[in-house]
Amino acid sequence: MKIFIDTADIKEIQEANRIGILDGVTTNPSLIAKTGRDFDSVAKEILAEVKGPVSLEVISLDTGGMLKEARVLAKLGENVVVKLPMTVDGLKACKALTAEGVKTNVTLIFSPSQALLAAKAGATYVSPFVGRFDDISEDGMGLVEQIVQIYGNYGYQSEVIVASIRNPMHFVKACLMGADVSTIPFSVIQQLSKHPLTDVGIERFLKDWEKVPKK
Ligand code: E4P
Repeated sequence: MKIFIDTADIKEIQEANRIGILDGVTTNPSLIAKTGRDFDSVAKEILAEVKGPVSLEVISLDTGGMLKEARVLAKLGENVVVKLPMTVDGLKACKALTAEGVKTNVTLIFSPSQALLAAKAGATYVSPFVGRFDDISEDGMGLVEQIVQIYGNYGYQSEVIVASIRNPMHFVKACLMGADVSTIPFSVIQQLSKHPLTDVGIERFLKDWEKVPKK
């Protein structure tokens, strides 16, 4: 299981990197907007910090515009992954960029058929959004399970990024289902390391240590 961080906040990225568990980064226009900074400086800063795949999203809605943006983004670094929306125009752009050797992440996937088409278009990654699907009373992790099974049935190479993760159970289920990547907000990465019994255990050990006679 690869762990990506889902943020554009450089401090969070640096902290996750220091823990030593970070394999890559995903961003989107909302996450860039949250930084309050311009796209170029944020993207360059992230690329300087992280060696693994960094997803940067296009804004255009037409294939021509997406390709134009994607070619500029791809020049920012070898580890750039161009994030494309799951639309017919996005699929066309995905096909063309794959032929050019540019890595792609087809985003905003909410159905197994969308994931299948993205794989056929050569997507390097596909991103089903589990949290947002749960929000409308659908089964986010059920969607991931179906995509993993379909890719297995036909041998598609696209990697499944479980996105819009909201809690540790999304991550654990993604691991059990054999998804390739989880992209996780920093707050949930922190939760993954915690267990109340670990804290109680440490406290008890330290208390008992006080009883050990000191020389
Ligand atoms: C994935 O690439 C997206 O950036 C992200 O996971 C969206 O998550 P959200 O639903 O919490 O905004």
